[in-house]
Amino acid sequence: MSTDFHWERYAGEWIEWVRTPDHDAFWVYVQQFREFLPPPGSHTLDLGCGEGRVSRELTDLGHRVTASDLSPSLLEAAERAGSAADYRLADAAALPFADDSFDRVVAYNVLMDVPDVPAAVAEVARVLAPGGEFTMSVVHPFADRCTVDDSGRFVMAGDYLTGGVFSAAETRAGLDMHWDGWSRPLHEYFDALTSAGLAVTAMREPKPERVDGPYSGLEPWRRMPLFLWLNARHRA
Ligand SMILES: C[S@@+](CC[C@H](N)C(=O)[O-])C[C@H]1O[C@@H](n2cnc3c(N)ncnc32)[C@H](O)[C@@H]1O
Repeated sequence: MSTDFHWERYAGEWIEWVRTPDHDAFWVYVQQFREFLPPPGSHTLDLGCGEGRVSRELTDLGHRVTASDLSPSLLEAAERAGSAADYRLADAAALPFADDSFDRVVAYNVLMDVPDVPAAVAEVARVLAPGGEFTMSVVHPFADRCTVDDSGRFVMAGDYLTGGVFSAAETRAGLDMHWDGWSRPLHEYFDALTSAGLAVTAMREPKPERVDGPYSGLEPWRRMPLFLWLNARHRA
């Protein structure tokens, strides 16, 4: 894999960002996400697993997990942490799994980072057995183009309906993080799911569970959802 791939280049930053206690927003939403997930089936694919935190949550909940990512460094970090039962280096748009291999697929904050969402979702549907469940999280399309000004107002940059490339650098509590991906309107995710034969069965716009101390920066996201979660069932 070329180191030009954003997540491979910034794998070290990401690992430190997500593994530093009380730093990434994930930890403020994780309990609600655990409750949103469908119960374990027989085999779960964690698509775009990164360093493995979602795989570890799924394993803890009783899922038998295959962890997969396009970044060799992140997949290696997931494996070193004993996150899953199995690991596969793979592009979400060309998965190296047979049809109907899984009855659960989870993609946590991945689809906004892939260039071709319809291709990735079609692959999810292909590897998901009929009746299987796909769970996805993305940064909420309404929030994705927003910043919060000094008086706490949301300011939208650019054109929501057109979307476009997203790129940002952030330094917080001494840690750097480079973000890169695509802002997409909500209908593009729904179109991709519908075209692939996946029917949405549940939707959640979670509120942060706490906004104190290190998470005080999440206060505005009690008024506007930072994430969008969907469960979708493969039509039998
Ligand atoms: C924001 S991180 C989320 C990682 C993990 N799901 C988590 O929540 O910790 C996005 C992940 O998507 C992966 N990714 C991006 N494009 C991908 C692609 N085309 N195929 C597979 N994984 C991809 C990146 O390597 C990275 O691990």
